[in-house]
Amino acid sequence: MTDQATKHAKLTIDGVSDPIELPIYSGSVGPDVIDVGKLTSQGYFTYDPGFVSTASCDSEITYIDGDNGVLLHRGYPIEQLAEKSDYLELCYLLLNGELPNSAESADFVDTIKHHTMVNEQLRSFFKGFSPNAHPMAILCGVVGALSAFYHDSTDIDNAEHRKITAHRLIAKMPTLAAMSYKHAQGQPFIYPRNDLGYAENFLHMMFATPCEDYQVSPTIAKAMDRIFLLHADHEQNASTSTVRLAGSTGANPFASIAAGIAALWGPSHGGANEAVLNMLDEIGSVDNIPEYIKKAKDKNDPFRIMGFGHRVYKNYDPRAKVMQQTCHEVLEELGVEDNPVLAMARELERIALEDEYFVEKRLYPNVDFYSGIILKAIGIPVEMFTVIFATGRTPGWIAHWNEMISGPYKIGRPRQLYKGYTKRDYPN
Ligand code: ACO
Repeated sequence: MTDQATKHAKLTIDGVSDPIELPIYSGSVGPDVIDVGKLTSQGYFTYDPGFVSTASCDSEITYIDGDNGVLLHRGYPIEQLAEKSDYLELCYLLLNGELPNSAESADFVDTIKHHTMVNEQLRSFFKGFSPNAHPMAILCGVVGALSAFYHDSTDIDNAEHRKITAHRLIAKMPTLAAMSYKHAQGQPFIYPRNDLGYAENFLHMMFATPCEDYQVSPTIAKAMDRIFLLHADHEQNASTSTVRLAGSTGANPFASIAAGIAALWGPSHGGANEAVLNMLDEIGSVDNIPEYIKKAKDKNDPFRIMGFGHRVYKNYDPRAKVMQQTCHEVLEELGVEDNPVLAMARELERIALEDEYFVEKRLYPNVDFYSGIILKAIGIPVEMFTVIFATGRTPGWIAHWNEMISGPYKIGRPRQLYKGYTKRDYPN
């Protein structure tokens, strides 16, 4: 938990003579926090719907400075990680706190490769889902179901069990993600191949068939790896907080991560990449963009420009910048630079970045704005976009769950401002 208080705040409440003294703690960087934990004994709760000003935990994993567009994992800027590292190395960093040396890296990659298969009985679960089931619905179910298979490693108080679980989840997520796609296609599942890299293997399981191999282009494999890398962690977002909350009850990690997957599904969070493409489809052509910009600005219209805005970033999302570059590389490789969807995306971006409404509200493109376009160009169907986000986010979820479980923690249990009926008698 937090160290000693560096300062104190005094809270004066009307009609109460003595102010309440609240300790203030400082992190290594970022805003100080006021510890309000003792307020309850004074008869008060704090009130912060949407947790906009609430720090729910101490963490050493990821730091975001939304005003300046900064994202650091274990201190390393995301731009440097995207350029010099790769997804599995970032997984290691998130889980262990330091970059691996070459022996540690080789060992980690080998371990992940040797956990990629799922139990054959788990494969039968897929038969229970209708062929048009959304792959996120399948993923929530089958990740939760992993808890039924690994009784040997679900003692959450055992560090070795937690490590094996982390490896299993990172290794099996692409397999389960690809299986959820194959199920919808009515195609046989494709087994993982341990001679391929992580992103390459995912593309192989998605697109190969028993009749034909899939030749993975290095540019596309690199783009896929980067999409996973850019989504790997984002501190206490809605899905990670859900994982922590579920995990704080002592629930097993597979169940906790399944809860995170469910939270990620919504269009305000991980579902946004799918929503971006659906929105571009609805807009239809560059000529219709002004009409949609007008709708987005109308307070009485629920329409929002998907892929724009962020709770924390009030500046360019640093991941979006990297993703924009990757997007161009992929479209160039595929020879689809004059793609009409991309033309709409570019025009939308241009107008929104100049428009007074978006500038004033500091609404910039977020990571999902570009990831959807890349995924579509690679040939991944829109319903799979959030599944891919979930696959990429898995190490972040596990790292946060592990960080919480490794130290002292309390069950997460917010309070409320009750506005319902006061006590009344049941009618005779
Ligand atoms: N289009 C139009 N207006 C917007 C948009 C948008 N995309 N986003 C926010 N606004 C407006 C709101 O209407 C609000 O206006 P007001 O102050 O006049 O009421 C103001 O900007 C602030 O918006 P809030 O919803 O209060 O901001 P919040 O931090 O709660 O929401 C969110 C952030 C959910 C991401 C929001 O910007 C949004 O809905 N964006 C579109 C969905 C999206 O892209 N989500 C992906 C998030 S990133 C991720 O999960 C990887």
